Amino acid sequence: MPAKPDMFTFAAIGDLHVKEDRTSLFRDLFAEISTKAEVLVLCGDLTDVGKPREAEVLAEDLRVCSIPVIGVLGNHDYESGQAEDVEKILKAAGMHLLNGQSYEANGVAFVGVKGFIGGFGRRMLASFGETVVKSFVAESVGEAMRLENAMRAVRNERAVVVLHYAPVVDTVEGEPPFLGSSRLGETIDRFKVSAVVHGHAHHGRYQGRTSRGAPVYNVALQVEKPSSRPYALIKV
Ligand SMILES: [Fe+2]
Ligand SMILES: [Fe+2]
Repeated sequence: MPAKPDMFTFAAIGDLHVKEDRTSLFRDLFAEISTKAEVLVLCGDLTDVGKPREAEVLAEDLRVCSIPVIGVLGNHDYESGQAEDVEKILKAAGMHLLNGQSYEANGVAFVGVKGFIGGFGRRMLASFGETVVKSFVAESVGEAMRLENAMRAVRNERAVVVLHYAPVVDTVEGEPPFLGSSRLGETIDRFKVSAVVHGHAHHGRYQGRTSRGAPVYNVALQVEKPSSRPYALIKV
């Protein structure tokens, strides 16, 4: 079927895990993506252990991008307790880092949160018992609420949700079923969403769907994609 003339193509990739001694690793890839897509979306774990120097290495590579770059942080970007510095460096390089906000490109709203773990369906962890378990679940619920609030503000016909953690179990198949949370999927299903992209599940599966049918793509670098490239090309 021919693509609708107003269709929009974005590239998405997660889990770059940039290390401080691996400079220029993604420069050619970003240049290639700039010729194939209208927006580049990065789905977290941008750095390997969340060091500002790693963010600087990535920021340097991002300078070759001639299209808008949008993204969220992942758990690895928090590892060194310097996520704020990582964020500052990437924002200074022109990246639109989302944490409960949206960014509009060519009429499409990209809505981003990191998300959190918590499990799926009937195996989802419940807020019961010890305080530490309750705090853990509260974090998971909080991320879903942050996504909900951001989605409520969207007025665009097309919206793309950008996450680090998976909102459905389909795309984490082959991994422990703990790498995301159904709470994110349930929130997505309350809105009209054209596509969802996430990372984190390095050994998961590329494609899945929410209960109400929104397409979900695991775009972690390590996951095989139909594009046969390390990034996904998605039309909405
Ligand atoms: Fe990762
Ligand atoms: Fe991760």
